Amino acid sequence: MLATTAYDLAAVRAQIVGLDTPLPRRDGRVAPAINLDNAATTPPLQSVHNIVERFFGVYSSVHRGAGLKSQAASAAYEDARAIVGRFVGARPNQHQVIFTRNTTEALNLLAHRLELTPGQVILSTELEHHSNDLPWRAVAPVVHIRATDDGALDLDHAAALLRQYAGRVRLLAVTGGSNVTGHLPPIHDLAELAHAAGAEIVVDAAQLAPHRRIDLGDLNDRTHLDYVAISGHKLYAPYGAGALIGRADTFQRGTPLLAGGGTVRRVSARTVDWVDGPARDEAGTPNAVGAIALAAACLALEEIGLDAIAAHEAELTAYALDRLAQVPGLWLYGDPDPATAETRLGVIPFCLDTYDPHLVAAILSYEAGIAVRSGSFCAQPYVRRLLAREEAGCEAGQDGLVRASFGLYTTEAEVDALVATLRAITVGDFDGFYERDAQRGTFQPIDWDLAVESLFQIQTTR
Ligand code: ALA
Repeated sequence: MLATTAYDLAAVRAQIVGLDTPLPRRDGRVAPAINLDNAATTPPLQSVHNIVERFFGVYSSVHRGAGLKSQAASAAYEDARAIVGRFVGARPNQHQVIFTRNTTEALNLLAHRLELTPGQVILSTELEHHSNDLPWRAVAPVVHIRATDDGALDLDHAAALLRQYAGRVRLLAVTGGSNVTGHLPPIHDLAELAHAAGAEIVVDAAQLAPHRRIDLGDLNDRTHLDYVAISGHKLYAPYGAGALIGRADTFQRGTPLLAGGGTVRRVSARTVDWVDGPARDEAGTPNAVGAIALAAACLALEEIGLDAIAAHEAELTAYALDRLAQVPGLWLYGDPDPATAETRLGVIPFCLDTYDPHLVAAILSYEAGIAVRSGSFCAQPYVRRLLAREEAGCEAGQDGLVRASFGLYTTEAEVDALVATLRAITVGDFDGFYERDAQRGTFQPIDWDLAVESLFQIQTTR
């Protein structure tokens, strides 16, 4: 087990915005909620919020104004680019950081910019979130590397497919860390195999980046990553920016996905001369606030220490797997072994007896103030694959799972609260009567008319 001595959990929690927000529960209590849905979105870091607030003092147009604020904002935007690049090990003379809205946009952008030719294929995997599968289907035939019964990437199948498609495979698109099982494919080993087959590799690092150090590596190293995509909203920086970081040579040619202001050097009535560098792929006024927030989050995570974060989360994941396995009728998916918690992320999918996963999530939320996600997590083929494993699980025909996912601030006490509520559910010890929304599949208590709009209002005075 990695050491966690340097990790000051209380100090880390003090940096998270919103942990103390009081929320109502069905029994009338009002108390802060427990967020175990960090794989979906992480709360903001206070330092991110502070830096953004400070930036507002010089907020102005980026790369479009002569005013001093505009120049300062432009310089800060470029500084953010450098910080984000460093965070993933980008080499300034080899790589380029393009700011996007999120990972999904980054992968769609790459799909467009690769300019595939007829006959080329893309290898993706059964583990992917839809955003690292559907964009590729739009530009080429996609072949999927299989997942094993416990949700790991089948590395023999990966090697076999790369051999079979050698010379034709343009790209291997693989998650850096699964948003469903927390599985961590060996991305640098896969990179070596992909390069040997004449392909490049893109890593969907939306889940990986908040939990592990990333190093793109030197382009001359066979294990290097060609591209990674990250999202600010999963990295404690919810200001609407993500990034595609990758080899600059790809973006020196071809046309941008979005054309418009900022992407050109010269335009005539009939011709366009695209500008070099990341601006070619950042049409329109950029989201400077988002970029600065993303950079601020990278700095904060580096200061806390990515190794310390990984160690804390591994310890917590081992603890949670051990406790969850003792809940009667609870079935863990993915790797259930606490002893290997260091080799995966703290993203834990499970089902509970014959309870609908959405009902479990509703009871956790309404009665215990515990936020989780239920369903297929925008990764339907993977969840179906997990549910089709040979080992018995919950009721046949189930079409989703419950997922608890940890952040750098999650505590054992929060895991204990989850486990205690799940135990209570298994013996029918919950209060509400729930009805299913036939369209969404989610559950609401029929005896509690909570107006969620009252929890936050844009307009506080009239
Ligand atoms: N945001 C999606 C999730 O919850 C991908 O995992």
